[in-house]
Amino acid sequence: MSVEPVIITSTAWMRRFCEARRAEGRRIAFVPTMGYLHEGHLRLVERASGLGDCVVVSIFVNPMQFGPAEDLDRYPRDLDGDLKKLAAYPVEAVFCPPVSELYPEGFQTRVRVERVSEPLCGASRPGHFDGVATIVLKLFHIVGPAFAVFGLKDYQQFQVIRTMVRDLDLDVEVVGCETVREPDGLARSSRNVFLSPEERAAAVVLSSSLAEAGEAIVAGRLGRADQVERFLAERIGAEPLARVDYVSCRDADTLGAVDAITRPVVLALAVFFGRTRLIDNRVVSI
Ligand code: PAJ
Repeated sequence: MSVEPVIITSTAWMRRFCEARRAEGRRIAFVPTMGYLHEGHLRLVERASGLGDCVVVSIFVNPMQFGPAEDLDRYPRDLDGDLKKLAAYPVEAVFCPPVSELYPEGFQTRVRVERVSEPLCGASRPGHFDGVATIVLKLFHIVGPAFAVFGLKDYQQFQVIRTMVRDLDLDVEVVGCETVREPDGLARSSRNVFLSPEERAAAVVLSSSLAEAGEAIVAGRLGRADQVERFLAERIGAEPLARVDYVSCRDADTLGAVDAITRPVVLALAVFFGRTRLIDNRVVSI
């Protein structure tokens, strides 16, 4: 089914639009994004259309979740291309406000989800998850969704949002979708466009080493988190174009540190190829 979505740029209009849909008894399924949409995002939209009776997508590159030395300015954008891609899906509204609409003069509030935000990307990117939690809470308040769909590619982000929703009693069901990958295993990401052909070829080491480590855990060859971390660091370190930011093996629910692996763990990593930082993860249950 193909429908023309309404393109909404103001908070007040978005709020009115969603209020009207809810007044008709319809349940909104919401997909927040930063645009430059790829197959991974579109899979979330597809999932949303099976959950609610009205799909809303936001496209907003959120400055608050980027550090001062990060890639906010060069983050890829293509609103026209995004709208064309969404036209193939039953999306009723696309919310794409200017920065001033969500961060007006005098803005000074931030939401912090504590422990689950601290390790992994939270340690490498201080304040990043405060920015994510703050914008997602704002968007939830504006849209009022019954369902919100997030990708498990950003595993820690998913856990941060789930924790915020639980802790703040938000009335929204958070739904996670499996990571969508290229045929060779590389997780789809808006940032993959920055990779040179050589970096792109080398980046397959992320998913392949996660898969290998996962198999070794299940087979009982790796039984402790520190062994897993050494294994991943060695595999990725063998790729000359890769520079490890972190590799980590943590409790899959709390993201807390683990010694012996006796419960499901998440293997998570962030690796630079040139200036481009890629993340990936794999949950392993034994
Ligand atoms: P963005 O990176 O645009 O991602 C939007 C959503 O798409 C997130 O839920 C992310 O996990 C999901 N996604 C990205 N790549 C994916 C893939 N390969 N497979 C499955 N899902 C994928 O994440 C953000 O934006 C922002 O932090 C946001 C939540 C919008 C807040 O600003």
